[in-house]
Amino acid sequence: VNSFDEECDYLFKAVLIGDSAVGKSNILSRLSKNEFHLDSKPTIGVEFAYKNIRVGDKLIKAQIWDTAGQERFRAITSSYYRGALGALLVYDITRRATFENLKKWLYEVREFGSSDMVIILVGNKSDLSNSREVNVEDGQSLAQLEEIAFMEISAKENLNVEEAFHQMVRRIH
Ligand code: GTP
Ligand code: MG
Repeated sequence: VNSFDEECDYLFKAVLIGDSAVGKSNILSRLSKNEFHLDSKPTIGVEFAYKNIRVGDKLIKAQIWDTAGQERFRAITSSYYRGALGALLVYDITRRATFENLKKWLYEVREFGSSDMVIILVGNKSDLSNSREVNVEDGQSLAQLEEIAFMEISAKENLNVEEAFHQMVRRIH
């Protein structure tokens, strides 16, 4: 047990969801270790990492879960969502299909997640805006329709990754 655990005011679980190769694992490694890998492999099963942050005078520790976007590599869905207070719902701005599939992911979150789970919609790979297939406005209007927050980020360039996470934490606590 390190000193942070003793001082920690809140511990909560959050999950990453979205299609394969949208960048979930790199968002997690950016948040937890400030690392990015161009050659990362698809996730098999479930992994998690911790991210500590301070909000006001409170110390908050997030346990962030990451699973495979590919169906055949996924773990049991209900246990993945169990107890999660927040979700980063990720698509890739350079692949339209990952945006179209958000309907499926939202359906799953609402079926297996708790009804008050805080969902942040995240368009990743904003560094590749020259090969963009999803406009910022498309992300915004879906978020408005679903009544969730939205942000474009880049795990590669470390743009808005912390901010998206902070938005989620602030809405939870
Ligand atoms: P699964 O584990 O299969 O569900 O995929 P994933 O969503 O975890 O994707 P992953 O993090 O493995 O990233 C897939 C590919 O996208 C890798 O080659 C990453 O380097 C790349 N990638 C992730 N984020 C970014 C980003 O912000 N910009 C760019 N240019 N590439 C990124
Ligand atoms: Mg992964």
